[in-house]
Amino acid sequence: MTAPDAHDPPARPVDVAAAQALAADRAVFLDVRSLVEWNSGHIAGAVHLPIEQLHDRLRVPDSTLPFGDRPVVTVCGSGRRAQQAAMLLADQGRDAAWLDGGLRAWTDAGLALTTGTTIGTAMTAGDWDARYSGNELVWTALPNKFLLEQTTDLSPGSALDLACGEGRNTVWLASRGWRATGIDFSATALGKAEQLAKHNGVTARWEQLDLLTWQPEQTYDLVLLAYLQLPAQQRQQVLASAARATAPGGSLLLIAHDLANLNAGVGGPRDPLVLWTPDGVDLPGFHPLRRDTARRPTATGDALDTVVHLIRQRDDAPAPAQAPGTP
Ligand SMILES: C[S@@+](CC[C@H](N)C(=O)[O-])C[C@H]1O[C@@H](n2cnc3c(N)ncnc32)[C@H](O)[C@@H]1O
Repeated sequence: MTAPDAHDPPARPVDVAAAQALAADRAVFLDVRSLVEWNSGHIAGAVHLPIEQLHDRLRVPDSTLPFGDRPVVTVCGSGRRAQQAAMLLADQGRDAAWLDGGLRAWTDAGLALTTGTTIGTAMTAGDWDARYSGNELVWTALPNKFLLEQTTDLSPGSALDLACGEGRNTVWLASRGWRATGIDFSATALGKAEQLAKHNGVTARWEQLDLLTWQPEQTYDLVLLAYLQLPAQQRQQVLASAARATAPGGSLLLIAHDLANLNAGVGGPRDPLVLWTPDGVDLPGFHPLRRDTARRPTATGDALDTVVHLIRQRDDAPAPAQAPGTP
């Protein structure tokens, strides 16, 4: 860690009463524990970001944080990780304090914890590894319906599947002649993806990396982003990287659980902050072939998905006045 600049506000410990006063003003409680710890009980309204992810994000210039520029009171079990997190934030000139004594001090003061709504919760690669740890597939081996629909008319070239999970879509693309690469930050998911490729007799490349710090180094004819459900700022950050990875004339295909699915569809996350809308996928230099909320039949009813297929303009091509199919 670098020494704080003389102009940076220092991180400071605050007791429970001072922390409550800060939160009553503008401050956010930032819980830096693991997802398992968070799920066992947290301060109502707190934002969750494990300290490893906070550390990674702060290393990337202009990286987004789920609490914007608000002052922060960091929180963990006993206060040790919260202190480290507050110092990291203060090093970057942010107004940061940590809850001295951690959640133990909070509950010792007779205050409650909740296991309710998660706001801005970010699952770590370790959390996803745990989710993928069984022998069975968490998802299915079958490709997504909208991927099939949207790629029927494309000639196979290079394809990049972002947040590929167990690789069902990467493997299907490879089986259709695409030179396919899948990226995910879960090593366990990628291990299962490689097994699925072998089982289907196809070859694909797999890369383990965090999409929130990823800087694309080459472009692809097709970039797919399927069911990466993150808070808005992080969605936009990954979208911007996906746009940079799309070759001129190439396709960027976004498929995700739609906000309308909360009340009118089945399955998917219940946290509205991580749900997409078609209008939220708009990139300069791209024109839409398709942009809608679409029904996907499942065993328990129809799910509602955001489906957006964008074409990156060639440098020499004027944008069409009205893209086909655009309402
Ligand atoms: C709901 S699964 C979707 C998997 C796959 N796209 C599919 O449709 O079957 C979401 C995936 O996103 C991955 N993921 C979440 N956050 C990520 C990040 N910051 N960087 C890389 N992968 C991430 C998870 O590991 C998980 O495999």
